[in-house]
Amino acid sequence: MNKAVILVGGPSRATRFRPLSMHLPQPLFPVGGQPIIWHQIKALSAVKDLREIILIGFFEDFIFQPFLSKCQDEFPSVTFKYLREYSQLGTAGGFFHFRDQILRGSPKNIFMLYTDICCSFPLNELLAQHERHGRLGTIMVTKVDRASAHLYGCVVVDHETKLAEHYVEKPETYVSDMASTGVFVFDQEIFHFMARVMEKRASEFEHERVQESAYGRYDDGDDSQNINRLRLEQDVLRAMAADKKLSAFLCTGFWRQIKSAASAVPANALYLQQAHESSDIILAESSNEGAEIKGAVYIHPSAQVHPTAHIGPNVSIHARVVIGPGVRINDSIILDNVHIKDNAVVLHAIVGWDCRIGKWGRVEGSKVTKANDIDEVTQSGVKLNSICILGEDVHVKDEVFIRNSIVLPHKELAGNKHNEVIM
Ligand code: GTP
Repeated sequence: MNKAVILVGGPSRATRFRPLSMHLPQPLFPVGGQPIIWHQIKALSAVKDLREIILIGFFEDFIFQPFLSKCQDEFPSVTFKYLREYSQLGTAGGFFHFRDQILRGSPKNIFMLYTDICCSFPLNELLAQHERHGRLGTIMVTKVDRASAHLYGCVVVDHETKLAEHYVEKPETYVSDMASTGVFVFDQEIFHFMARVMEKRASEFEHERVQESAYGRYDDGDDSQNINRLRLEQDVLRAMAADKKLSAFLCTGFWRQIKSAASAVPANALYLQQAHESSDIILAESSNEGAEIKGAVYIHPSAQVHPTAHIGPNVSIHARVVIGPGVRINDSIILDNVHIKDNAVVLHAIVGWDCRIGKWGRVEGSKVTKANDIDEVTQSGVKLNSICILGEDVHVKDEVFIRNSIVLPHKELAGNKHNEVIM
């Protein structure tokens, strides 16, 4: 049998996802009508012989319980567990720390997935290639454009043997256009390899500690000085590549990171388009017949959309939202309990929980075109070329135009704003 681990991080991570992560943890933020992490879980549930999915993070235990109970009902062939790190252990530290629990039942292969990505997740193909080549692990890579390769973990791949020859995290000079996607599969023997990495680190660490103490620079409370902290990319994958124990699998479907709040909009579009093409989930509900729906649109059954509204493409409308007559929305996420009044326009935006947009109001961002995740946000009126984000409970008055701005929760906007971060 096989198992999977999803790294969900903790409250101190995902800072670029603010202000949306002030309301709920980033893994539970909805894109394509479902929490980000649901898409990982759905793909994993279709992997052959996959029996258990373990979430590892440093959020409090109760945070994921309601979500995991729902998943248990929806994906009954898999069991779910949340394991909490006592402190931030890095992208491989928690995985190594909980190895006894992960190895329970002796899984042959163990998937590891990051949360902050959206992807077509060709996991069965990944597993098939991994088993064919029989190396200790396989990293899923995607081709990125040469100019942005330095933003990613880059892998030099021998395309014939599928061997990952080198792994370099965010290289300063160009080494490869094959970027790590945050999706991996390992043989259960990985923990022996990691144990050796840990031993080596421990001796280096002790050496450094002695030196730092001699200069009075050693800080016991500093997280980066935690001996149990382990980074998957720099500490483990790099060593695996050097030992010729790592394969690479090329993902030819879609992939992008979900790091900033702005990147949730293109991720939403990708998942909606995927669902639209596969008729996988019911997107626009019949109770909203009459409204002009264009392209891939998700409308929660409890939302009310006026028959004269124009919705789509790439729009998610969540629970209890009310959309008035003549409203136009595209490329946006409208979260629970939002009320958008007559003839308002919402383009390239995220409208937070409980927001109100008045009649003839306009909330408009720019299209996110870059495949990477550089969103130009500034504090002081300089270029803010991104989508528009309204935090929770923001009221935009009638006829007010909010453009390319980020608004923190609980604000009332009575005048136009352009390129601002409104605190
Ligand atoms: P950046 O580009 O610098 O953000 O690095 P990255 O792409 O490697 O991402 P990062 O290391 O920040 O996180 C990758 C995934 O691991 C995300 O889903 C995080 O939530 C998760 N993660 C990061 N650090 C930890 C950690 O200490 N513990 C756990 N459990 N998860 C983590």
